[in-house]
Amino acid sequence: MYIAMVSAECAPIAKAGGLGDVVHGLSRELLALGQEVEVFLPGYDSLRHDLIEGRREVYRNLRVPYFDQWIDCRVDSGEVDGVTCFFIEPDSPHRFFKRGRIYGESDDADRFAFFCRAVLEFMLISGRRPDVIHCHDWQTALVPVLLFELYQRLGLTDVRVCYSLHNVGYQGVVGESILRQVGLDPARLMTADRLQDPADPRAVNLMKGGIVFSNFVNTVSPRYAWEIQNTEQGMGLQDVLKTHDGKFGGVLNGIDDAVWNPATDRHIPEPFDADRLEGKEANRRALRAYLGLVQAEKPIVAVVSRLDYQKGVYLLRFGIAHACALDCQLALLGAALDPVVAEQFRRLQEDTEGHPDCRLVLAYDEELSHLIYAGADMILIPSIYEPCGLTQMIAMKYGVVPIARRVGGLADTVFDANYSDRPFEERNGYLFDDLTESALASAMERAIDLWRNHPEYFRQLQINGMRVDRSWGRPARQYLDIYSHIRVH
Ligand code: ADP
Ligand code: GLC
Repeated sequence: MYIAMVSAECAPIAKAGGLGDVVHGLSRELLALGQEVEVFLPGYDSLRHDLIEGRREVYRNLRVPYFDQWIDCRVDSGEVDGVTCFFIEPDSPHRFFKRGRIYGESDDADRFAFFCRAVLEFMLISGRRPDVIHCHDWQTALVPVLLFELYQRLGLTDVRVCYSLHNVGYQGVVGESILRQVGLDPARLMTADRLQDPADPRAVNLMKGGIVFSNFVNTVSPRYAWEIQNTEQGMGLQDVLKTHDGKFGGVLNGIDDAVWNPATDRHIPEPFDADRLEGKEANRRALRAYLGLVQAEKPIVAVVSRLDYQKGVYLLRFGIAHACALDCQLALLGAALDPVVAEQFRRLQEDTEGHPDCRLVLAYDEELSHLIYAGADMILIPSIYEPCGLTQMIAMKYGVVPIARRVGGLADTVFDANYSDRPFEERNGYLFDDLTESALASAMERAIDLWRNHPEYFRQLQINGMRVDRSWGRPARQYLDIYSHIRVH
């Protein structure tokens, strides 16, 4: 089967969060299963060019409609870890993808709408006829709309679309001129059963369009699939998801074994696995040394996170203080896009500067993240909502015990040491329900108490988490099933 992945992110060359990891890990696994896969990305200036092999121009003047004009694009291709990627680079005064970063621009909707049209135009002109286009999140939601409204007639006749929702908190709600920009007819599409936003009838909801027009829609964990259909976590899309229930499901993400494996990880000083858990000790020492924490027999509580509302930043700030109050060590690695949140954490960093047991690194640092996972004992994940969450899965692979809120993919992967109905060998962490300081505090206290007073049980929790197969094998086969299903129907 020929699968075209269309996405705003692909690790390690263009990653802002878990979406990048998923597109990379799933594509590699599908290749390993003998499928033909190509990834289509914007040609950002911020791409990690050093990680792209054999980059070459494959198309020069791709003419892409933009309102009633054209924008010429150059298309390059190159290999990333064996996966062929295409980069669409518009040559225009808008400098759509020359902003030094992936997201966060005031014209994000225009930039990605343009990208959607350009990808389909390129497929048409270059003779590509994917069996399935797999799109991700609101940025690529216009692909199915454009395909079935325009490009099917132009020649992309037999193409099906699978659309994955990684985060319903970002739907792409914009004015209707976005439709005219890409050559779509607002009069046809601005209806309640199509792209009209459920809350504001004058606005276009791109994610809703993706849901309505795709052949199959999924989100990235079964629990989040239920939450967005049945609770306010659907953020207004509950009804449209219920209407399209027959083509909707949850597929739990995997993590890339080649990248996240403590037995082979080249970024960490001492390899270890579930049978050699002692190896973690050298990594704990290395982490303390790297961050300038004192070498003391205290548990290391970590945070590795985008510092965003979704991640429960308020509770994270409390958790940092509480870990210190409980005489633990705290290592945070986080980056904030929102200036208010960035300022709050910058102040907290200032307040904790020089503290022997507390270190906040406010940056995006892939390499340091490996050392933190290898060295930490526990990780805090107090998310308000969490479609899947890769952090807890990566952490558990490295013998880190998650302390997480029981939502979305966290509830599907973390099983409470004390209160789970699972057998003991499946319990691997601590969960809490309420979005309150006291709920987080009590889960932290249970975990820290076990670490201090029953180290042999704590070790068992670590091992339980490490032994689970979280590779892409199973999810990739589930996606292949979905692709085959939509080919037939
Ligand atoms: P989300 O995609 O919502 O940010 P996930 O848990 O799915 O959350 O994925 C987060 C990914 O980004 C993980 O691979 C995590 O290790 C990584 N990550 C998050 N923040 C940072 C950071 N500041 N530095 C390095 N890696 C980070
Ligand atoms: C989003 C979600 C996260 C998920 C990731 C990959 O960024 O916030 O929960 O793991 O996408 O699907």
